[in-house]
Amino acid sequence: MKKLSLLILAGLAQLSFAQDMQLRKLIPNKNILIGATVNQWVVANDLGKPHYSKKASYKLVGERKHIDIECAIVPKEFNCLTAENCMKTEVISPEKGKFDFVLADQFMEYAEKYGMAVIGHAPMWHTQLAKWMCRDKDGNLVSKEELKKNIHDYIFTVYGRYRGRVKGWDVVNEAIEDDGSYRNNDFYKILGEEWIDWSFKCAMEADPNVELYYNDFSMAAPGRRATVVNLIKRLKSKGLRIDAVGMQTHIGMDFPKFKEYEKSMQAFIAAGVDIHLTETDISILPNPYTGADVATRFQYTPDKDPYKDGVPEKALKAWQKRYKDLFALVNKYSDHVKRVTFWGVTDATSWKNDFPIHGRTDYPLPFGRDGKFKL
Ligand code: XIL
Repeated sequence: MKKLSLLILAGLAQLSFAQDMQLRKLIPNKNILIGATVNQWVVANDLGKPHYSKKASYKLVGERKHIDIECAIVPKEFNCLTAENCMKTEVISPEKGKFDFVLADQFMEYAEKYGMAVIGHAPMWHTQLAKWMCRDKDGNLVSKEELKKNIHDYIFTVYGRYRGRVKGWDVVNEAIEDDGSYRNNDFYKILGEEWIDWSFKCAMEADPNVELYYNDFSMAAPGRRATVVNLIKRLKSKGLRIDAVGMQTHIGMDFPKFKEYEKSMQAFIAAGVDIHLTETDISILPNPYTGADVATRFQYTPDKDPYKDGVPEKALKAWQKRYKDLFALVNKYSDHVKRVTFWGVTDATSWKNDFPIHGRTDYPLPFGRDGKFKL
């Protein structure tokens, strides 16, 4: 009974907040979740935890005042949340056999307070990866058996803890390269392609009712598109479940070509999965790199940081048009697109200010530094 009333309350909260979402005017199909990623300062600030940055494992981008602005925006403008960092393996399990759920639990509490759907991000990923997953104490790769056990135990513990509360997990993140080859990360070095299948098998068994996603960047690249399609077919042929493909959609003003992006949407839909835009942001800056591999960095030069003091009207218009074209695709395939999540809440705290070049001023999100809607 108590559970039922909580569910009803959560539903009501979602309804009352969802009504005002400004993005809904641009993405009218109510079946499409409109999500944001939040950092741990937003969460702790909202929950009134006294030292909001004490447990933080990542440096705060932006300033304290921006966190207040974001706290006011999130419950009004979104109905789905992804954790920016606190559900990654290096945060949840820095040491083998030990788990630290403080930040992830807070994130769940925050999302549930506002009746938001929750996306689990990103357990199996070569970046921000718990060291023990693939390497022993001396830094050597672990055996096949040990890696399988590590993946299994991690997934069962974490998915198990949030069973019934997380809507879907990015089971595997960024396992494929632009040219369609499998990324030669530690998982792959040990298990070959099978590391992906094993992760999905564990995920499916750990929480039979949760949605399972494969997530990656530069999804418009024809090589990656073809391998993702093959992967979906392979998983399905083995009786494994994959519900959607996550197209990260960290994109720019001149990449990708939306024609290629649309071809990927069509290919994934034809392969029998839904589509989620999982990490949407459109950088307005000139970019030396079209990918989103966190380890790839470039030197700062002032010519690559032209809008420190604001964006001229013409550039803003062009940027708005990019979003318009992206949303046109979302709406065209709205029977299959189930979620559009933005990677951040406002420009102030966006990771794009530091990626792929540190210390720039970017404007990639629908909400500006002052909290105003820009689309
Ligand atoms: C980023 C976060 O936004 C940063 O705070 C962190 O320092 C690095 O990771 N693809 C992903 C996300 O799947 O998890 C990354 O998030 C951005 C690229």
